[in-house]
Amino acid sequence: MPLSELDEELASHRLFADEARCREVFARLRAEDPVHLAHAKGYPPFWAVTKHADVMEVERQNDKFINAPMTFLHEVEEWAQRLKDTNGTGMYVRNLIQMDGTDHRAMRGLTQAWFMPRNVKQLEETVRTRATEMVDLMLDTERCDFAKSISPWYPLRVIMSLLGMPEERHPDLLILTQKLLAPQDEQAKAMDPVARAIAKKEVFGAFLGHMNALIDARRAKPEEDLATLLVNAQVDGQPVAPSDLLGYFLVISTAGHDTTASALAGGLLALLRNPEQLERLRREPELMAPAVEEILRWTCPVRHFIRTATEDYVLRDKQIKKGDQLMMCFPSACFDEELFPDGDQFRIDRTPNRHLAFGSGVHNCLGQHLARFELKAFLTEFLQRIDKVEIDGPVEMVASNQVSGVKHLPLRYEALVPV
Ligand code: HEM
Repeated sequence: MPLSELDEELASHRLFADEARCREVFARLRAEDPVHLAHAKGYPPFWAVTKHADVMEVERQNDKFINAPMTFLHEVEEWAQRLKDTNGTGMYVRNLIQMDGTDHRAMRGLTQAWFMPRNVKQLEETVRTRATEMVDLMLDTERCDFAKSISPWYPLRVIMSLLGMPEERHPDLLILTQKLLAPQDEQAKAMDPVARAIAKKEVFGAFLGHMNALIDARRAKPEEDLATLLVNAQVDGQPVAPSDLLGYFLVISTAGHDTTASALAGGLLALLRNPEQLERLRREPELMAPAVEEILRWTCPVRHFIRTATEDYVLRDKQIKKGDQLMMCFPSACFDEELFPDGDQFRIDRTPNRHLAFGSGVHNCLGQHLARFELKAFLTEFLQRIDKVEIDGPVEMVASNQVSGVKHLPLRYEALVPV
């Protein structure tokens, strides 16, 4: 089969619903054409960058490869509708991921310290409480669909608690963030690209309604939370513009949610499919830190980001032209044989583990220390209190090439009886 026959799959969302096929497609690209120009029907041409070193090379040079305006691959028609709706910017609200240069540095600087390990340490109690609540919830019964009722809820509750969002708004926000991040799944698949762009705009509107309400509440009455920090923040002596403030809330809520949920469900699935690794983690809890890194490498929930070239550039042996779009294939980089010769094995003691699940360069994941702690806190609680876990039905993956992971993970289990 010629390589060009992979192009449709590469642009598609369905590739990520089939783990084995996904590994196969990326392994072939890494071996035969690591910087591959793909032409998929309905999409603009794009370069699929599949090797670890090449993703790093692009991400390191954030002046030559910028994030604005397109951060994820879009169909030509949908993108045209979006440009029409957004005065040609492609952004409903500007957020960190779409910013470049000094704007990005200034906006990221507002919360950088808050997300650093020293501050995350102070949040550990809140996160542990949320983990305990979730395991309590699991133990109310002996069966659950972990990917429906537990893994999406936990990080959402953590991030909403840290932001200061009232609890009664959490269920609505769960639905909205999932719609924002997996737009091609289920009903959306049946829509034409323009209808999809319009539907997405409505979801944005509803989401922003919740965020505006929180901003107003914190202006009226400051609290000790991330929302208050942002509402009072200044750039160059000026308060942050209302639309940028909304963009910040949006990116923190969405980036902090589906990513962590996917890593958690996918990580548990990997442990269950490799029972000797699960048992080893129970016996040797000191392996939790490398186990979390291996889960991140293995699940790599951010499926890609797009960068746009600002000048001509030769990457590996390929001539990239100014204006070209490059797809950073993070899940491929995480299995690159050059760094991970036995990458197809899930090993909780893998060190070093230089995965790219959090990206790299100036846009690397702001929430990575929090995410690591969330995974660690949940798995620790889970292993201490739950036993005899079995997969209890068909496992399904979300069909999305943006942020995705396990969609259904039916489990049966028992409470662990201490000996
Ligand atoms: C397992 C969980 C997570 C994964 C796999 C993940 C992955 C990523 C990736 C791949 C990027 C882009 C990096 C790049 O372009 O090089 C990113 C950016 C970002 N992440 Fe995460 N993330 C996770 C959790 C979180 C959490 C918990 C938060 C916050 C609460 C968060 C906030 C952000 C923000 C704000 C950005 C944009 C940073 C920028 O553009 O400067 N993420 N994340």
